[in-house]
Amino acid sequence: MAATVIDGKAFAARVRGQVATHVAALKNDHGITPGLAVVLVGEDPASQVYVRSKGKMTLEVGMKSVEHKLDVDTAEADLLALIQKLNNDPEIHGILVQLPLPDHLDEDLVINSIDPAKDVDGFHISNVGLLGTGQDSMVPCTPLGCLMMLRDHHGSLSGMDAVVIGRSNIVGKPMAQLLLGDSCTVTIAHSRTKDLPDVVRRADIVVAAVGRAQMVPGGWIKPGATVIDVGINRIDRPEGGTRLVGDVDYDSCAKVAGAITPVPGGVGPMTIACLLANTVTACCRANG
Ligand code: GUN
Repeated sequence: MAATVIDGKAFAARVRGQVATHVAALKNDHGITPGLAVVLVGEDPASQVYVRSKGKMTLEVGMKSVEHKLDVDTAEADLLALIQKLNNDPEIHGILVQLPLPDHLDEDLVINSIDPAKDVDGFHISNVGLLGTGQDSMVPCTPLGCLMMLRDHHGSLSGMDAVVIGRSNIVGKPMAQLLLGDSCTVTIAHSRTKDLPDVVRRADIVVAAVGRAQMVPGGWIKPGATVIDVGINRIDRPEGGTRLVGDVDYDSCAKVAGAITPVPGGVGPMTIACLLANTVTACCRANG
């Protein structure tokens, strides 16, 4: 039987609708407009697309959007000074520094200079620690979006075997923490994992976040498993031009899986919806 396609685009539109309602209430009842600042250093084309899309959707839900585009050779001290200014700005409730940063900038130093209460990415070491110990934190947007889709599809995830392929700080590690928090038995697989196909074959839930186009074939998937594809990779079409594909081979996985997220239209839209939701959460916390 063909897999259920988990429609992240429709789900994200619902989440953005809820965020817009919340924003309208904050404005009307309290005179507060949540504000999100996005900082982009350099001109990486993919980052530019993401930042533009974030800005557009921030405005669409009625929030204030501020974009800071800095030269690729911006000095670290200047970037830190900007973050300090945003930390102290009462109209800014969320700060996002688009990653990756150019090589001369210390990513950890920069991220950890953001006020943890405004760290809507959930990358600050304080938020990472809070998440790891099961305390209230800002939760990274991509894994949060994945978790929301999994809960929506399954209800409880308790006792399920989950494999997260990829160990990045942005997706793999926080995803594993969230699944553990929902009482899954979690394995984090990565490039050094021995016998990856066998590890993946045991999983009721597979989250693929490796950044390698169509790496996971249907033959690795346990029949009926749920496949969440975090990858966004551009590949050449045989007939010319390019197209976006995920980290799993969609056609073969969809024949075996019970449910699967498409690329595009799966995890991607949920990431931005969760960023907007995190900004509203940060705004509400800042205003008691
Ligand atoms: N680059 C790729 N994904 C992300 C993300 O979720 N947040 C930030 N800040 N940069 C990214």
